[in-house]
Amino acid sequence: MSINILAIESSCDDTSCAVISDGILKSNVIASQKVHEAYGGVVPELASRAHQQNIVPVVSEALRQAGVDKSDLAAIAYTRGPGLLGSLLVGTSFAKGMAIGLDIPLIDVNHLHAHALSQFIKEDASDEVPAFPFLCLLVSGGNSQIVLVKSPEEMQILGQTIDDAAGEAFDKCAKVMGLPYPGGPHIDRLAAQGDPERFKFSKPHIQGLDYSFSGLKTSFLYTVRDGLKENPAFIEENLPDLCASLQKTIVDILLNKLKKAIRQTGVKDVTIGGGVSANSGVRDAVAKLCEKENVKAWIPKRVFTTDNAAMVATAGYFKYLKKEFCPLDLPPFARVTL
Ligand code: KG4
Repeated sequence: MSINILAIESSCDDTSCAVISDGILKSNVIASQKVHEAYGGVVPELASRAHQQNIVPVVSEALRQAGVDKSDLAAIAYTRGPGLLGSLLVGTSFAKGMAIGLDIPLIDVNHLHAHALSQFIKEDASDEVPAFPFLCLLVSGGNSQIVLVKSPEEMQILGQTIDDAAGEAFDKCAKVMGLPYPGGPHIDRLAAQGDPERFKFSKPHIQGLDYSFSGLKTSFLYTVRDGLKENPAFIEENLPDLCASLQKTIVDILLNKLKKAIRQTGVKDVTIGGGVSANSGVRDAVAKLCEKENVKAWIPKRVFTTDNAAMVATAGYFKYLKKEFCPLDLPPFARVTL
């Protein structure tokens, strides 16, 4: 009989459930929460309530699409953290209830591990996967890290942001321009029609492989403020150029350290993960850099870059094969590193 694993992801504002059979993805259902748009950012209490409303239909739909009955599940995997505690509690409690009800093992998954392993999501048995050790540029709304992935369990952070994450830089600058939340995808779309050399924003000078994005955010804010003093229509008249120049600066900052990490480690494979890895500029630049450095770039499908349960199921499957199950009284963790 197949090993069917159901996975639940509820760390932030996406309720997602996936089913994998013998390591092959059978379904991946995601309910994104629109309620936060009006507030310009995720409201934790509203996120928890939306997870509660979404979780039953999302889990039912994932099982239906996979054609798997719950009585045929071998284990339940779930995101333990990091994330919003209230949101994590909904997924954690649901996963525990289901594991108890079905009398099957429970598998806790670190959300960051899942992002770093997202290149192992297989939609077909013939899908290729990277070789360990590899580098993962993990860039999302809450993280900007360069991770050396030595095995499914062993990961080392080589560099990380000392202040804002890359996604925060996108979202906060988008807010300055009056774009809706989350701003990253809007900037990506508008940047395609703009001139990336038009505006210059400051870049950080940080030692080693660490990142910083707060200076860029301030520099962007000052450019817009000064532009508006001269011309009240500054934003509307320059929107694509502002977006293209901002995106180019963020990409340059990310890639500069990734290049150093490739040279320092001598790895042969590089992956990207997290919401910001959906960005066209990031994807193109990583592919070009890897070609130049003679290493293989693994660019994931966009659906697997943002929060999704397919990556949780995949990370959970690695643990299932090693019989690494967790006790039912394991609490969720809002803050946990790799
Ligand atoms: O991994 P993720 O879904 O969850 C969090 O960490 O919250 O990442 C969300 C982040 C947001 O900051 C969003 O603006 C950014 O990913 N993002 C993008 C794009 N798509 C999502 N940033 C730039 N370009 C995109 N196409």
